[in-house]
Amino acid sequence: MEIQNDGRGGLSKALLLALSALPLTAAAAAPDFSKDVQPLLRRHCFQCHGEAARMGGLDLRSPAKILIGGAKGPAVRKGSATESLL
Ligand code: HEC
Repeated sequence: MEIQNDGRGGLSKALLLALSALPLTAAAAAPDFSKDVQPLLRRHCFQCHGEAARMGGLDLRSPAKILIGGAKGPAVRKGSATESLL
């Protein structure tokens, strides 16, 4: 896409700058495990992957245990959501 010099260039530039800053803003507000992630896992997963049971050998109660993973290996591969089982 070309930015044309038709008087709206300033606005387009400002918009582009704002958009390009978005991912940085998101990265700065990284999710917190105990606040943002654990409640979800507790609600949906702990009954089978917690204290009572470790189906598939998997315990999801802590980041360390998630990285160890279960029978098929680490549940999360750092830096790659697509390669992560979870
Ligand atoms: C009702 C029980 C149940 C619930 C609830 C459940 N799981 Fe599982 N999960 C299993 C079973 C059983 C296996 C093993 C399946 C297999 O080996 O084919 C498994 C396997 C897995 C595995 C692969 C583990 C490995 O290394 O073999 C992952 C990752 C996983 N579950 C994630 C989750 C997540 C995340 C949640 C919550 C969103 C969740 N599970 C909720 C029963 C459950």
